[in-house]
Amino acid sequence: MALLTGKRALVTGVANKRSIAWAIAKALSREGADLALTYQHERFRQNLEKLVPELPRPPVMLELDVADDASLTAMADGLSQHWDSLDILVHSVAFAKAEDLAGPFVETSRDGYALAQDVSAYSLVALSRSVLPLLKVAGGGAILTMTALGGERVMPTYNVMGVAKAALEMSVRYLAWELGADNIRVNAISAGPLRTLAAAGVKSAHSAMAELPERSPLRRNINQEDVGDAALFLLSDWSRNVTGNILFVDAGFHIMA
Ligand SMILES: NC(=O)c1ccc[n+]([C@@H]2O[C@H](COP(=O)([O-])OP(=O)(O)OC[C@H]3O[C@@H](n4cnc5c(N)ncnc54)[C@H](O)[C@@H]3O)[C@@H](O)[C@H]2O)c1
Repeated sequence: MALLTGKRALVTGVANKRSIAWAIAKALSREGADLALTYQHERFRQNLEKLVPELPRPPVMLELDVADDASLTAMADGLSQHWDSLDILVHSVAFAKAEDLAGPFVETSRDGYALAQDVSAYSLVALSRSVLPLLKVAGGGAILTMTALGGERVMPTYNVMGVAKAALEMSVRYLAWELGADNIRVNAISAGPLRTLAAAGVKSAHSAMAELPERSPLRRNINQEDVGDAALFLLSDWSRNVTGNILFVDAGFHIMA
């Protein structure tokens, strides 16, 4: 039997075939999970429709803007029309204004700071809350989010997103403590640099991609499938007593001075 046979997984953040969320969705479905995928808006729904034939079973598809409470409620209502319980939640969503990733950090606007926090960190809390009743029906579950080394150390130009990732990582720990009482585990993967839509505006991602083959212990870059396979561990019973963790999938880069 496959690792996740009979499990139901909600995966957010597929924008296109390069999205980390898409690699996670493929890994989950390969291991037998049924999927619900969310898309941010119409353009991404069209992208998704082109991708889903690659999955072994057709997914539930739902619109979701994590910055909008009404959209979160509508998504959760829509999901509960298909499923009466949920085992897995993947949060793979982030956003910051381009100028806040390019300019000096000290120039970050109040708006830009709040926006990055809202979409990239608070959304984990709001999204978890929106599906909590379904996770409880399943008798527990696993939540996973995506972070980066720039949330722990200064990576010039990651700026406001680094601050949002720091808040996201602490949110993982507070959620892990609270939701642990309901047998829900909460973890994050800190991924090395990957060529995706979100990374396109992040200069530090490009320089890190050049650095990993020289400076990481494994002397190579990572790919989306590396993250998808690590996600399987954190989202399955193989990690049944692992919660509140940040797992680095970065060829070991984070240990280097
Ligand atoms: N690519 C990297 O190098 C890298 C490294 C470490 C961590 N991450 C993190 O991985 C996650 C996924 O990013 P990715 O690299 O796959 O890029 P991506 O652009 O493919 O995915 C980002 C997703 O966020 C979604 N999103 C943005 N604002 C949203 C909103 N208001 N409501 C709903 N969805 C919204 C987008 O639609 C998109 O699907 C992000 O949290 C990112 O910070 C990426």
